[in-house]
Amino acid sequence: MKALVYHGPGNKAWEDVPDATIQDPTDVVVRVETTTICGTDLHILQGDVAAVTDGRILGHEAVGTITAVGDAVSGFGVGDRVLVPAITKCGRCVYCQRGMPSHCQTVGGIGWIFGHLIDGTQAELVRVPYADTSLYAIPEGVTDEQAIFLADSLPTGYEVGVLAGGVRPGDTVAVVGAGAVGLSAILTTGLWGASKVIAVDTNKFRLTKAIEFGATDAVEVGPGTVADVIALTDGLGVDVSIEAVGYPETLLTAASLVRPGGTIANIGVHGTPVELPMQDMWIQNVTLTMGLVDTVSIPTLLKMVASGRIPAEKMGTHSFTFGQIDEAYDVFKNAAANEALKVVITPG
Ligand SMILES: NC(=O)c1ccc[n+]([C@@H]2O[C@H](COP(=O)([O-])OP(=O)(O)OC[C@H]3O[C@@H](n4cnc5c(N)ncnc54)[C@H](O)[C@@H]3O)[C@@H](O)[C@H]2O)c1
Ligand SMILES: [Zn+2]
Ligand SMILES: [Zn+2]
Repeated sequence: MKALVYHGPGNKAWEDVPDATIQDPTDVVVRVETTTICGTDLHILQGDVAAVTDGRILGHEAVGTITAVGDAVSGFGVGDRVLVPAITKCGRCVYCQRGMPSHCQTVGGIGWIFGHLIDGTQAELVRVPYADTSLYAIPEGVTDEQAIFLADSLPTGYEVGVLAGGVRPGDTVAVVGAGAVGLSAILTTGLWGASKVIAVDTNKFRLTKAIEFGATDAVEVGPGTVADVIALTDGLGVDVSIEAVGYPETLLTAASLVRPGGTIANIGVHGTPVELPMQDMWIQNVTLTMGLVDTVSIPTLLKMVASGRIPAEKMGTHSFTFGQIDEAYDVFKNAAANEALKVVITPG
């Protein structure tokens, strides 16, 4: 089979590798029919993720069809159309049982294993461990181009942003960063009855998208960002401030937007320490949440996509074939300049 193989910082190649096969009785093999690229894949290519070593197949998002099942798999069969999520869960360890499979202990102590600790989904075939507890059947009426965004970005915006932030009916919500993840938070926060959803970004195209995705207001980052957002909330600040960029300054912005008693929900992956003004924050009764996505909201999101409440397909702006995967990476790497959100990659 062919796959996108990581060969150290800055190097990757779409090349011939041995076919993915069943290794454990709880495995299945999936023929990948749609995959995509995540910002994390770009971090890996920069050499930021030391656990990813030369020879690893990249990717942690896929939609496809099962071609082989291990002896212990009972919930899925050959020919089933499935969503392969970013998080794999054994279903039995202490974290899986607590509904927190992001920290599944069974393979390397973390739920994110594809394209990280084991071979990933940017390939013609992928081996999926713990298939019964990890895969999701895709309902009729949900297309591959919709389902693929439920593997990672939509559950991330929803779980780590909207649910962790505790959005309630009537709330005002700010989302700092309107990339795929921030836009996912915007798409799903309306489902909880937010009265105002304010998108904050440096990029005009992303802000236009934010309004299309259901934001009520868009604020371009500038010297008056905080004052502009506060003015939109009767001078109080927002109930829930979601950070979806991953820089110290954007977390500080998110923290400055929240009203007393509100919640700051950090989604961004941070690479450096962040100094928070605790001398101002302690008296504000605010909550700060953070974490790795569990992807446990996928069944809910699949239902909402099937019923038309979440137009997940809006996330895909560019399509490529496996043979064009280098081009797909180039477009995604310069997403803002290319007016790209997520890319859809198919066998072609
Ligand atoms: N916690 C998790 O489980 C999890 C999972 C997936 C992704 N993430 C993280 O979520 C974050 C967002 O991911 P993404 O794929 O949407 O990234 P992205 O790069 O597509 O989007 C980031 C957005 O932030 C905007 N931005 C940049 N600088 C800004 C600033 N100073 N102020 C306001 N906006 C600014 C950009 O214009 C862009 O629209 C990343 O840090 C990513 O690593 C976290
Ligand atoms: Zn990802
Ligand atoms: Zn587990």
